[in-house]
Amino acid sequence: MAELIDLRSDTVTRPTAGMRRAMAEAEVGDDVYVEDPTVRALEERTAALFGHEAALFVPSGTMGNQIGMRLVCEPGQEVLCDADAHVVTYEMGAAAAIFGISTRTVVSSGGRLDAGQLTEQVRPKDNWHLTATAAIAVENSHNRGGGLVQPLDQLQALWDWSRQADVAVHLDGARIWNAHASSGVPLSTYGGLADTASVCFSKGLGTPVGSVLVASAERIATARLWRKRLGGGMRQVGVLAAACLYALDHHLPRLGEDHEHARLLAKRLGVDPATVETNMVVLEGIEAPLVAEAAKARGVLVSQVSASRIRLVTHLDVDRAAVERAADVLAELLDR
Ligand SMILES: Cc1ncc(COP(=O)(O)O)c(C=O)c1O
Repeated sequence: MAELIDLRSDTVTRPTAGMRRAMAEAEVGDDVYVEDPTVRALEERTAALFGHEAALFVPSGTMGNQIGMRLVCEPGQEVLCDADAHVVTYEMGAAAAIFGISTRTVVSSGGRLDAGQLTEQVRPKDNWHLTATAAIAVENSHNRGGGLVQPLDQLQALWDWSRQADVAVHLDGARIWNAHASSGVPLSTYGGLADTASVCFSKGLGTPVGSVLVASAERIATARLWRKRLGGGMRQVGVLAAACLYALDHHLPRLGEDHEHARLLAKRLGVDPATVETNMVVLEGIEAPLVAEAAKARGVLVSQVSASRIRLVTHLDVDRAAVERAADVLAELLDR
């Protein structure tokens, strides 16, 4: 049988030959001593891309998000976010379990940020009765929202409001690269609308591992302590940072291709193209377990988001021919 076409997630990519070479050739040192030149280069480059003072390499997006939120929220305070946000859906209650941070959610329209809806829920810090809202977490692009890109005017409105309200903004930018590729909004603009931001290299950018947290120099110094406490202090990880630097040079510029492939899938499967903003396509109103099983039997892996929804994610490891094959299989199964 032909090789499986894996559309479950953009996390399934394997390092390319060029990336492996860059990893093998990386200059390394002990990063807990802050002596790994490749990690430092990645941190400096990422901080500059997002217009922040400093950055910290962390093993995962989950660690980046959780430390990022802890930097701007004390135990007993809360982070407010939408109900489908990754930070409250897929991070195993980490904010509460590890940091004593409370989370509160608002139901959004498919993950789309509505600054007014969030800010009216914020609770003040100087009230003896209430759980104080210290931060708002925003996800861009939005995973459970089918890869939607947050509207810049809403991000700006939230940011402007947050400055006078003394509430911090954390950006879960696991796929900020896709948002940037789709909207054309500079990474520095997105970075300028957040106090802390976690960005991943192991999703659309195709590295085996690695995320970077960006923030002020003072906050990143504190983040370094938290990373060590959590067991995220790593040694000669220039080999991993080299993959991230390679991805910035070689994979960031090609993300538009993944978005085009997602639009192609949507077109073939009768999905409204307006719902496809980046590399994800959501099929709704179907018998998800049956379709997923049948697709798998024919060599196409998809992700079941619920009993009636399936998510398809395009990425580096599925070329146009594979996307067309997957579209043929799914179109036949769905009779579209
Ligand atoms: C939006 C979003 N944030 C954070 C993460 C967490 O990343 P990791 O799996 O590296 O912990 C993911 C993972 O897919 C994600 O989709």
